[in-house]
Amino acid sequence: MILLGVDIGGSGIKGALVDSETGELVSERIRIETPQPATPEAVAKTLKQLVDQFDYDGPVGCGFPATVHHGIAFTAANIDKTWINTQVEKLFTETINKPCYVLNDADAAGIAEVKFGAGKNNHGVVMMVTIGTGLGSAIFVNGSLLPNTELGHIILENDIAEHYCSDSARQQNDLSWGKWGKRFNKYLDRLQFLFNPDIFILGGGASKNFEKFKDKITVRTPVVTATKLNAAGIIGAALYANDLNAQGIKPNTLSVEPNEHIETDKCKAKA
Ligand code: BGC
Repeated sequence: MILLGVDIGGSGIKGALVDSETGELVSERIRIETPQPATPEAVAKTLKQLVDQFDYDGPVGCGFPATVHHGIAFTAANIDKTWINTQVEKLFTETINKPCYVLNDADAAGIAEVKFGAGKNNHGVVMMVTIGTGLGSAIFVNGSLLPNTELGHIILENDIAEHYCSDSARQQNDLSWGKWGKRFNKYLDRLQFLFNPDIFILGGGASKNFEKFKDKITVRTPVVTATKLNAAGIIGAALYANDLNAQGIKPNTLSVEPNEHIETDKCKAKA
């Protein structure tokens, strides 16, 4: 099936049509600058502009740089704080007037890599780390995703890991690739200690410079770079939408206050 995948980032909103059978882009990739300030309403409007450029009417998958639990954003590390508690799936679905399934951006990139990229034939524990403005993570066990792991926020060297070794930390602290690579190796070493993955897949902007820091990576776990590069987030978002849509699951458009939603979940857990 052909679906529209979108990757929402701090600087650009990118989308393309994706063939869910092959994981290939089947249209050009369109990018629109993320509006500033990137409030929910402004981003939703820009998303509509992007979607309208495609001759497409069907479900849309959308990667988003925050924890997205049942369609609601709960964190905002590198995005406008007004996203916290926003019903993202409801907002996007209503704005673009098409079912819009939203998931964490690193989870989306991981889905693409595990299905069609560097993690393709890997069983066991696959860990994707995206290195950009933030540090994103995705964990798969035998191909199944554990969503919203947020491992860019573990504490490392008395700091939040993404403040210590994201790509923006490298730029802000004017670190050479070698110096930054040593920091990043400490991060992988901690993840290895905690999760014992079978493979690390590196994605995001900094992964394109792997050659410049790979001699600093000494963890025993094999480390490879993503093969879908810029398109991984788009492809994974489309695959996610395809999967839920095929199961007859609709995006979360219920008009509930986010706090009520949390209570509902707690009650369910007790029952
Ligand atoms: C966010 C994650 C996101 C990552 C990459 C982090 O700051 O907390 O949700 O996946 O950045 O965009």
